[in-house]
Amino acid sequence: MKHPLIFAHRGVKGTHPENTMAAFLEAEHIGAHGIELDIHLSNDGEIIVIHDETLDRTTNGTGLAFNYTLQQLKALDAGSFFDHRFAGEQIPSLREVLAWAAGTALLLNIELKNDIIRYPELEQKTVQLVREYGLEDRVIFSSFNHESIELLASLAPEIHRALLYHEPLPDALIEARKRQASGLHPNFMLLTKEFVQCAQQAGFTLRPYTINEYKDLENMIALGVDVIITDWPARAFELIKEREL
Ligand code: G3P
Ligand code: MG
Repeated sequence: MKHPLIFAHRGVKGTHPENTMAAFLEAEHIGAHGIELDIHLSNDGEIIVIHDETLDRTTNGTGLAFNYTLQQLKALDAGSFFDHRFAGEQIPSLREVLAWAAGTALLLNIELKNDIIRYPELEQKTVQLVREYGLEDRVIFSSFNHESIELLASLAPEIHRALLYHEPLPDALIEARKRQASGLHPNFMLLTKEFVQCAQQAGFTLRPYTINEYKDLENMIALGVDVIITDWPARAFELIKEREL
Protein backbone atom coordinates (compact mmCIF):
# COMPACT_ATOMS: atom_id res chain seq x y z
CA MET A 1 0.00 0.00 0.00
CA LYS A 2 1.25 3.47 -0.87
CA HIS A 3 1.79 5.70 2.16
CA PRO A 4 2.42 9.42 2.22
CA LEU A 5 5.81 10.90 2.96
CA ILE A 6 5.97 12.71 6.30
CA PHE A 7 7.31 16.28 6.54
CA ALA A 8 8.06 17.80 9.93
CA HIS A 9 6.36 21.21 10.06
CA ARG A 10 8.83 23.97 11.12
CA GLY A 11 10.95 21.00 12.23
CA VAL A 12 9.24 18.87 14.85
CA LYS A 13 7.20 21.80 16.15
CA GLY A 14 5.18 19.65 18.55
CA THR A 15 8.15 18.77 20.74
CA HIS A 16 10.86 21.32 19.85
CA PRO A 17 11.11 25.09 19.30
CA GLU A 18 9.92 25.70 15.75
CA ASN A 19 12.36 26.58 12.97
CA THR A 20 15.49 25.89 15.04
CA MET A 21 18.32 23.46 14.39
CA ALA A 22 17.10 21.45 17.42
CA ALA A 23 13.74 20.95 15.68
CA PHE A 24 15.35 20.03 12.35
CA LEU A 25 17.82 17.59 13.93
CA GLU A 26 14.91 15.91 15.72
CA ALA A 27 13.07 15.51 12.41
CA GLU A 28 16.01 13.63 10.96
CA HIS A 29 16.44 11.64 14.16
CA ILE A 30 12.88 10.29 14.09
CA GLY A 31 13.02 9.45 10.39
CA ALA A 32 10.91 12.20 8.81
CA HIS A 33 11.23 12.25 5.03
CA GLY A 34 11.39 16.02 4.95
CA ILE A 35 11.21 19.28 6.84
CA GLU A 36 9.16 22.39 6.22
CA LEU A 37 10.73 25.73 7.16
CA ASP A 38 9.83 29.41 6.77
CA ILE A 39 12.16 32.12 5.47
CA HIS A 40 12.44 35.92 5.64
CA LEU A 41 15.28 38.42 5.04
CA SER A 42 17.41 40.18 7.63
CA ASN A 43 18.26 43.87 7.31
CA ASP A 44 21.64 43.02 5.78
CA GLY A 45 20.06 40.77 3.14
CA GLU A 46 20.68 37.35 4.71
CA ILE A 47 17.99 34.67 4.54
CA ILE A 48 16.79 33.71 8.00
CA VAL A 49 14.59 30.87 9.20
CA ILE A 50 11.66 32.04 11.32
CA HIS A 51 7.88 31.89 10.93
CA ASP A 52 6.60 35.33 11.93
CA GLU A 53 7.63 38.69 10.48
CA THR A 54 8.18 39.78 14.07
CA LEU A 55 10.50 38.40 16.73
CA ASP A 56 8.21 38.68 19.74
CA ARG A 57 6.46 35.30 19.80
CA THR A 58 9.43 32.97 19.38
CA THR A 59 12.46 34.94 20.62
CA ASN A 60 13.49 37.43 23.31
CA GLY A 61 13.68 40.16 20.65
CA THR A 62 10.97 42.59 19.60
CA GLY A 63 9.74 44.11 16.36
CA LEU A 64 10.34 43.15 12.76
CA ALA A 65 13.16 40.69 12.04
CA PHE A 66 13.83 42.75 8.90
CA ASN A 67 15.00 45.64 11.13
CA TYR A 68 18.00 43.63 12.38
CA THR A 69 21.22 42.30 10.91
CA LEU A 70 21.96 38.59 10.93
CA GLN A 71 24.54 39.12 13.64
CA GLN A 72 21.99 40.87 15.85
CA LEU A 73 19.41 38.15 15.20
CA LYS A 74 21.91 35.40 16.05
CA ALA A 75 22.32 36.93 19.52
CA LEU A 76 18.66 36.24 20.33
CA ASP A 77 17.31 33.24 22.21
CA ALA A 78 14.88 31.31 19.97
CA GLY A 79 14.45 28.33 22.29
CA SER A 80 13.31 29.54 25.72
CA PHE A 81 9.83 30.56 24.55
CA PHE A 82 9.17 26.84 24.07
CA ASP A 83 11.01 25.38 27.06
CA HIS A 84 13.95 26.50 29.19
CA ARG A 85 15.74 23.28 28.14
CA PHE A 86 16.17 24.88 24.70
CA ALA A 87 17.63 28.16 25.98
CA GLY A 88 20.34 29.36 23.61
CA GLU A 89 18.81 27.95 20.41
CA GLN A 90 19.33 30.53 17.69
CA ILE A 91 17.44 31.73 14.66
CA PRO A 92 19.20 29.74 11.94
CA SER A 93 20.29 31.28 8.66
CA LEU A 94 19.08 29.36 5.60
CA ARG A 95 22.76 28.81 4.75
CA GLU A 96 23.26 27.04 8.06
CA VAL A 97 20.27 24.76 7.51
CA LEU A 98 21.26 23.91 3.93
CA ALA A 99 24.87 23.21 4.90
CA TRP A 100 23.59 20.70 7.45
CA ALA A 101 20.82 19.27 5.25
CA ALA A 102 23.27 18.62 2.41
CA GLY A 103 24.72 15.83 4.56
CA THR A 104 21.32 14.22 5.16
CA ALA A 105 18.74 12.63 2.85
CA LEU A 106 15.95 15.00 3.88
CA LEU A 107 13.62 16.72 1.45
CA LEU A 108 13.30 20.45 2.13
CA ASN A 109 10.08 22.40 1.78
CA ILE A 110 11.24 26.01 1.87
CA GLU A 111 8.30 28.34 2.39
CA LEU A 112 8.99 31.91 1.28
CA LYS A 113 7.17 34.21 3.71
CA ASN A 114 6.81 37.07 1.28
CA ASP A 115 3.06 37.60 1.28
CA ILE A 116 3.15 40.37 3.92
CA ILE A 117 6.60 41.93 3.33
CA ARG A 118 7.92 41.72 -0.25
CA TYR A 119 11.55 41.18 0.66
CA PRO A 120 13.85 42.48 -2.09
CA GLU A 121 15.26 39.62 -4.19
CA LEU A 122 14.27 36.91 -1.70
CA GLU A 123 13.60 34.55 -4.62
CA GLN A 124 16.94 35.20 -6.34
CA LYS A 125 18.92 34.83 -3.12
CA THR A 126 17.14 31.61 -2.16
CA VAL A 127 17.66 30.00 -5.57
CA GLN A 128 21.34 30.95 -5.48
CA LEU A 129 21.83 29.33 -2.08
CA VAL A 130 19.99 26.12 -3.00
CA ARG A 131 22.18 25.82 -6.10
CA GLU A 132 25.33 26.55 -4.10
CA TYR A 133 24.61 23.50 -1.95
CA GLY A 134 23.51 21.36 -4.91
CA LEU A 135 20.10 20.74 -3.35
CA GLU A 136 17.92 21.46 -6.40
CA ASP A 137 16.59 17.87 -6.47
CA ARG A 138 15.58 17.86 -2.82
CA VAL A 139 13.93 21.26 -2.50
CA ILE A 140 10.28 22.28 -2.94
CA PHE A 141 9.56 25.99 -2.83
CA SER A 142 6.14 27.09 -1.59
CA SER A 143 4.45 30.40 -0.88
CA PHE A 144 1.06 31.97 -0.23
CA ASN A 145 2.29 34.62 -2.67
CA HIS A 146 1.56 32.97 -6.00
CA GLU A 147 3.31 35.67 -8.01
CA SER A 148 6.47 34.71 -6.18
CA ILE A 149 5.99 31.09 -7.30
CA GLU A 150 5.68 32.27 -10.88
CA LEU A 151 8.89 34.26 -10.53
CA LEU A 152 10.64 31.19 -9.11
CA ALA A 153 9.48 29.21 -12.15
CA SER A 154 11.37 31.59 -14.40
CA LEU A 155 14.44 31.76 -12.14
CA ALA A 156 14.73 28.04 -11.40
CA PRO A 157 12.52 25.82 -13.57
CA GLU A 158 14.43 22.78 -12.30
CA ILE A 159 13.29 23.22 -8.67
CA HIS A 160 9.80 22.05 -7.66
CA ARG A 161 7.29 24.73 -6.70
CA ALA A 162 3.91 24.59 -4.97
CA LEU A 163 1.02 26.94 -4.25
CA LEU A 164 0.03 27.41 -0.62
CA TYR A 165 -3.56 28.35 0.18
CA HIS A 166 -5.61 28.43 3.35
CA GLU A 167 -8.98 29.52 1.93
CA PRO A 168 -10.87 27.72 -0.84
CA LEU A 169 -9.07 28.38 -4.12
CA PRO A 170 -11.57 28.05 -6.96
CA ASP A 171 -9.93 26.56 -10.03
CA ALA A 172 -6.85 25.54 -8.06
CA LEU A 173 -5.53 23.45 -10.94
CA ILE A 174 -5.92 26.31 -13.39
CA GLU A 175 -4.13 28.65 -10.96
CA ALA A 176 -1.34 26.07 -10.48
CA ARG A 177 -0.84 25.75 -14.24
CA LYS A 178 -0.85 29.51 -14.65
CA ARG A 179 1.80 29.89 -11.91
CA GLN A 180 3.79 26.89 -13.23
CA ALA A 181 3.57 24.99 -9.96
CA SER A 182 3.82 21.20 -9.80
CA GLY A 183 2.37 20.92 -6.32
CA LEU A 184 -0.51 22.12 -4.18
CA HIS A 185 -0.16 22.80 -0.45
CA PRO A 186 -3.70 23.46 0.81
CA ASN A 187 -4.97 23.77 4.33
CA PHE A 188 -5.92 20.09 4.85
CA MET A 189 -9.48 21.04 5.83
CA LEU A 190 -10.17 22.08 2.23
CA LEU A 191 -9.48 18.63 0.77
CA THR A 192 -12.03 16.17 -0.56
CA LYS A 193 -11.52 12.71 -2.05
CA GLU A 194 -12.72 14.00 -5.44
CA PHE A 195 -10.27 16.88 -5.45
CA VAL A 196 -7.31 14.70 -4.40
CA GLN A 197 -8.05 12.25 -7.22
CA CYS A 198 -8.61 14.96 -9.77
CA ALA A 199 -5.41 16.85 -8.85
CA GLN A 200 -3.28 13.71 -8.79
CA GLN A 201 -4.67 12.50 -12.12
CA ALA A 202 -3.73 15.88 -13.54
CA GLY A 203 -0.17 15.26 -12.32
CA PHE A 204 -0.02 17.54 -9.27
CA THR A 205 1.60 16.54 -5.99
CA LEU A 206 -0.59 17.16 -2.94
CA ARG A 207 1.08 18.14 0.33
CA PRO A 208 -1.62 19.44 2.72
CA TYR A 209 -0.77 21.16 6.02
CA THR A 210 -0.90 21.12 9.07
CA ILE A 211 -2.31 17.75 10.11
CA ASN A 212 -1.84 17.05 13.81
CA GLU A 213 -4.76 15.13 15.32
CA TYR A 214 -4.88 11.35 14.95
CA LYS A 215 -8.31 11.38 13.29
CA ASP A 216 -7.18 13.99 10.76
CA LEU A 217 -3.95 12.12 10.06
CA GLU A 218 -5.99 8.97 9.48
CA ASN A 219 -8.33 10.77 7.11
CA MET A 220 -5.50 12.25 5.08
CA ILE A 221 -3.69 8.92 4.83
CA ALA A 222 -6.97 7.36 3.62
CA LEU A 223 -7.42 10.14 1.05
CA GLY A 224 -4.09 9.15 -0.46
CA VAL A 225 -2.30 12.51 -0.29
CA ASP A 226 1.35 12.44 -1.33
CA VAL A 227 2.85 14.19 1.69
CA ILE A 228 1.60 14.99 5.17
CA ILE A 229 2.96 18.15 6.79
CA THR A 230 2.65 17.78 10.55
CA ASP A 231 3.95 19.13 13.86
CA TRP A 232 3.80 15.52 15.12
CA PRO A 233 5.55 13.21 12.64
CA ALA A 234 5.79 10.39 15.20
CA ARG A 235 1.96 10.21 15.30
CA ALA A 236 1.83 9.82 11.54
CA PHE A 237 4.44 7.05 11.62
CA GLU A 238 2.48 5.30 14.37
CA LEU A 239 -0.66 5.25 12.20
CA ILE A 240 1.19 4.11 9.11
CA LYS A 241 2.76 1.26 11.07
CA GLU A 242 -0.67 0.21 12.39
CA ARG A 243 -2.03 0.05 8.83
CA GLU A 244 0.83 -2.24 7.84
CA LEU A 245 0.17 -4.73 10.66
O1 G3P B 1 3.90 25.30 4.50
C1 G3P B 1 2.82 24.82 5.22
C2 G3P B 1 2.51 25.70 6.40
O2 G3P B 1 3.71 25.95 7.07
C3 G3P B 1 1.86 27.00 6.00
O3 G3P B 1 1.43 27.74 7.10
O4 G3P B 1 1.64 29.52 8.76
O5 G3P B 1 2.51 27.26 9.30
O6 G3P B 1 3.69 28.69 7.65
P1 G3P B 1 2.35 28.32 8.24
MG1 MG C 1 5.23 27.38 6.89
